[in-house]
Amino acid sequence: MLPIEVRPFQVTAPALDRLGRPMYDLRVSVVDTCNFRCPYCMPEELVDAAPTPRVERLDFEQIERVVRASVELGVRKVRLTGGEPLLRKRLPDLVTRLAAIEGIEDLALTTNGVLLPAHAQTLADAGLSRVTLSLDAVDEAVFARMSGGRGNVSQVLAGLEAAERAGLGPIKINAVVIRGYNDHVVLPLLEHFRGTPHIVRLIEYMDVGNVNGWNRGNVLSTAELLSAVQSRWPLNPLRPAIRGEVAKRYAYADGQGEIGFISSISQPFCGDCSRARLSTDGRLFTCLFAKDGIDLKPALDGNDEHLLSELSGVWSVREDRYSEIRSTLGNDRKVEMYEIGG
Ligand code: GTP
Ligand code: 5AD
Ligand code: SF4
Ligand code: SF4
Repeated sequence: MLPIEVRPFQVTAPALDRLGRPMYDLRVSVVDTCNFRCPYCMPEELVDAAPTPRVERLDFEQIERVVRASVELGVRKVRLTGGEPLLRKRLPDLVTRLAAIEGIEDLALTTNGVLLPAHAQTLADAGLSRVTLSLDAVDEAVFARMSGGRGNVSQVLAGLEAAERAGLGPIKINAVVIRGYNDHVVLPLLEHFRGTPHIVRLIEYMDVGNVNGWNRGNVLSTAELLSAVQSRWPLNPLRPAIRGEVAKRYAYADGQGEIGFISSISQPFCGDCSRARLSTDGRLFTCLFAKDGIDLKPALDGNDEHLLSELSGVWSVREDRYSEIRSTLGNDRKVEMYEIGG
């Protein structure tokens, strides 16, 4: 007997924006507060810690409906973010709902890691594919400064181990590099993970939000970082795995693993940007640096067809390319990173 033909999942109405970019990647912020206070994201002295009140957050059913609609339009990658997403109660129930959606090929979560020992296995059992951890230094004193004095390196490493045990790999480790803060401990961070399957990605410090006091002088460019890393460990470039990949990937020439560089400031990647972002309170952002998002709550009050047409309409008029034109723009107010999770 011939095997039954397995038909790939069909997109009913693929969405393209004004620059011809598909909607492929949806990032869902499930809570807009955090147990850290990283100075580049939620500086303690400037951020009012009050999160969106529970009643104004999308519930899991609403999130599932938005995700289903976006999958109809072409989304294949979904990432849960925050703030710190593990602060959202009953998160595994949401993962169960999303993991059941036909068409999603990758269901990931970005976390600071400290709550992973308690949640990694439950999340894996619910159907989460993998996690990405944020860790800016393995030096305790530098880490304390980079996390606003909350948490410590051993907690994050315990979270990493828990994720590994639960099979939530490949695990990526995001490190924001800020000149004068943690640039002097980048090599020890890389050294710690060399020879493991974990992939460290060094991120250029970005001008997201309004509160981090960003200035170009604090940005350490990928070119500078690459040359510092290369002079210690020779690297070979790797080919992008998918179109629109955010990180430039390299392999250690001695076979000790892979690292990546995310160069939003020095080498913007808007041309292939296929990411949509949903805030905790149900606004859809078409750029990380947008001023505001489109409130989907009214559309959620209608039926699924209505929601689909709203989403498709928002995407069809999208023309964001902030990183490519940042130098020509003024100092407009922007959404905060902790509202849409990066
Ligand atoms: P993977 O599928 O794991 O490779 O995810 P990813 O490449 O989207 O990486 P991740 O979600 O971990 O994003 C890493 C960091 O890159 C984010 O936290 C941001 O700092 C930055 N980043 C991701 N997407 C964008 C984007 O669309 N624009 C800009 N400017 N930065 C981005
Ligand atoms: N610049 C670059 N990356 C940032 N992140 C948060 N704020 C910034 C910023 N200003 C990253 C964090 C985390 C992800 C969610 O976003 O390191 O990995
Ligand atoms: Fe929290 Fe992540 Fe923002 Fe740090 S970067 S304050 S861990 S949401
Ligand atoms: Fe996409 Fe905006 Fe980032 Fe450009 S700046 S890559 S359009 S999110």
